Amino acid sequence: MRIGIGNDHAATELKFIIMDYLKELGYEVVNYGTDSTERYDYPVAGERLGRAVVNGEVDLAIGICGTGLGIGLAANKVKGIRCCICSEPYTAEMSRRHNNANMLAFGSRVVGSELAKMIVKTWLNASFEGGRHAKRVQMIMDIESGTYKPEE
Ligand code: RB5
Repeated sequence: MRIGIGNDHAATELKFIIMDYLKELGYEVVNYGTDSTERYDYPVAGERLGRAVVNGEVDLAIGICGTGLGIGLAANKVKGIRCCICSEPYTAEMSRRHNNANMLAFGSRVVGSELAKMIVKTWLNASFEGGRHAKRVQMIMDIESGTYKPEE
């Protein structure tokens, strides 16, 4: 499986740690972020990661900035992206099982490297359950595409 990873200047060190970890776990990794600690705008990496998932360049993607918020919010503006910002493994697992997240984000200033590894491993090991959750995920995608009909 091919995983995209991207970051801003606040998360360069953690990005490299997670890249190595992903390779150890046997994943192919594609780097869409900055390798420098010079200022780098997180929407650039968020948009690149989102586009890589939607285009099928990678299967899933992981974005890291200071909080995870900026990169995650930017990625969620790419049509087709469901990026969940998770600071612990439970939410990360549920984001795959119930929300079919195709992107994960977290913050280098929020989680330490060992917790980040747990979040990543848990997220990648979980899979979408479908069933009743499929309808709800479809409703989210309908909101995005403008075809959602609100219940009055
Ligand atoms: C950069 O200082 C910081 O704003 C960024 O990494 C991220 O936390 C934004 O959401």
